[in-house]
Amino acid sequence: MKAASGSALPTKPCCTLNSVYLNGAFLPIEDACIPVTDRGFLFGDGVYEVIPAYGGRLFRLPHHLQRLQNSLDGIRLENPLNENQWREIFNELLQRNQAQAEPNNDQSVYLQVTRGVAAKRDHAFPDPVKPTVYATSNPMTEPDSKLLERGLAAITLEDIRWQYCNIKSITLLPNVLLRQQAVDADAAEAILVRNNLVIEGSASNIFIVHKGEILTPPNGNYMLPGITRDLVLELAAQHGIPCHETDISKEQLCSADEIWLTSSTREIVPVTVLDGQLVNDGRPGAVWKNMSRHYRDYKNAVREGKAE
Ligand code: PDD
Repeated sequence: MKAASGSALPTKPCCTLNSVYLNGAFLPIEDACIPVTDRGFLFGDGVYEVIPAYGGRLFRLPHHLQRLQNSLDGIRLENPLNENQWREIFNELLQRNQAQAEPNNDQSVYLQVTRGVAAKRDHAFPDPVKPTVYATSNPMTEPDSKLLERGLAAITLEDIRWQYCNIKSITLLPNVLLRQQAVDADAAEAILVRNNLVIEGSASNIFIVHKGEILTPPNGNYMLPGITRDLVLELAAQHGIPCHETDISKEQLCSADEIWLTSSTREIVPVTVLDGQLVNDGRPGAVWKNMSRHYRDYKNAVREGKAE
């Protein structure tokens, strides 16, 4: 309804503020501040996780917390909280931000731990300080059905990142530059290649289908061990779909019958254009359709509290 001129201001605020968690307190996002001397800000010295929650229920939480632990170990930072404390914080955030995520209450939790605030800027670790712990949750929408019918465009790029890509570090500048290069080329993702081997996307893992078999590169220090990737492998095994973790050359990628990207926020998306060429007939493939159905069923089981 249009307000008559001169009438009172609308009672509903123009935007709803997210609740966030920062160092022990829940507060509106606009009140959450950290000192500029935080090592996350100065050095990118920290790690993060992104955890989906469907219908308010956390998805694969133990897997995400295990990967968080591995990332913290990788940067020699002690985990500031135990599993129950993390779980309580996330559930509280999901509840506080629920209204913004209706009708289905699907959200993604973001958490970040940095080495904290040091007295002076010095690359070496400071004397023990308290890590900065930040978490929030945001509404998550279902993957766009039109986009899924069409698939995505991707380009291949040389992987310019470091040798510890298994750590989910907040230092994401190479990923940012690579993704932007893809966007500049009208593509949704950059698929990274190192020594002619396909590694992963700038913010996703990769699968190809070759003669009905699903192939994905093996975990190692050059890629992030994706939680969605692991679930796809589990679902393939459960449903008898042939699947192998194996090196994939750029030539194999270019002649694949199907290409998919996986991540917590994008789930499983088909790539139908690679470097400007159609992948197969340029439409999402049958193996992807089958796997997406299994993934959707798993998500629904989480929503109903029958899986985690
Ligand atoms: N990124 N590889 C990279 C480099 C990633 O950044 C991500 C996810 C993945 C997929 O991991 P998972 O299935 O656990 O989400 C692989 C998140 C979503 C992000 O940075 O926002």
